[in-house]
Amino acid sequence: MSSIPKPLSARQDKMTELDTLEIQLMADVAAAADEQAIEAVRVAALGKKGSVSELLKTLGTMSPEERQTRGAAINALKNSVSDAINARKSALRDAAIEAKLKAETVDVSLPVRSSPAERGRIHPISQIVDEITAIFGDMGFSIAEGPDVETDYYNFTALNFPEGHPAREMHDTFFFLPDEKGERKVLRTHTSPVQVRTMEAQKPPIRIIIPGKTYRQDSDATHSPMFHQVEGLVVDKTANVANIRWVLEEFCKTFFEVDNVTMRFRPSFFPFTEPSFEVDIQCDRSGPIVKFGEGTDWMEILGCGMVHPNVLRYGGLDPDEYQGFAWGMGLDRIAMLKYGMPDLRDFFNADVRWMNHYGFRPLDMPTLFGGLSV
Ligand code: DAH
Repeated sequence: MSSIPKPLSARQDKMTELDTLEIQLMADVAAAADEQAIEAVRVAALGKKGSVSELLKTLGTMSPEERQTRGAAINALKNSVSDAINARKSALRDAAIEAKLKAETVDVSLPVRSSPAERGRIHPISQIVDEITAIFGDMGFSIAEGPDVETDYYNFTALNFPEGHPAREMHDTFFFLPDEKGERKVLRTHTSPVQVRTMEAQKPPIRIIIPGKTYRQDSDATHSPMFHQVEGLVVDKTANVANIRWVLEEFCKTFFEVDNVTMRFRPSFFPFTEPSFEVDIQCDRSGPIVKFGEGTDWMEILGCGMVHPNVLRYGGLDPDEYQGFAWGMGLDRIAMLKYGMPDLRDFFNADVRWMNHYGFRPLDMPTLFGGLSV
């Protein structure tokens, strides 16, 4: 081992093993692609058994002169390698943070993607029920409901249809097979049975509407075996025909969202009302959709009348004390009129394209102050 330092020129010509190691380590540092890799380079060089650490250990065994030359060279090597590792480490850490931030960037200027709840649509029937509920709720009515599978008694007898009367057959009723007592249930043909059920359950004054499903054996563009009606019933001590007219006119103006409607009451017959009327509303049918509040045509929209004394009796009320009025109308029909749907059967085909076109946005609840069908 020579203690005489080599002249500088000689060192430059001839690479020492320290130079080779430095070049190798610098190449490793440069090649480290992530924080884990640079840590591995650090351990391999400066760790307990690292290549540079091993060299540092030889310092203790060196002569003072050798320590000054080779020792200084080893220390310089250690410093430059350690500096390079630290620099590479912080560059890699910065790059990692940069990449993470990039991956997590949210572009707040992008339009909001609509949620599944927002994309769904409210069926026009549900919409109409909500609209009607808003209108009559505002007039002080509440909602009543009854069973779809009804007894012959509530569907017919208690509504003053005489036994064996042809009117029972007129409804194209779906009858169930008779039970062991010989009684046959029906799919209710109208919402009127809920009138009597309500009179039995609560004392007047009664102000209710009854939206619900109804059933008749009928099917074409304007009839479906299952359809919907909304029934209205008012019972108190003074209810009269002028009241019916006012209630129905107010309803039609608000529902069809027009300032004025003209209605025509034609005498008619229903077993459960006396007198009975069919109500037409003036409209313009010349265009593709019917317009209300204008025109010279008439369209029938509902049946109504004063509740027959027998029906009050069936409901447990004394017709000398109480009187009432009632009406019934086809929900599907007024939905078609208001929103211009041509075929009733489409309502129940579960076609998502139809729903996207005619359905309503779920968060737009109909209200009188915010608008019924915005
Ligand atoms: N229930 C009748 C029908 O389905 C409609 C009806 C007419 C209901 C007159 C009433 C009414 O309450 O008073 O054809």
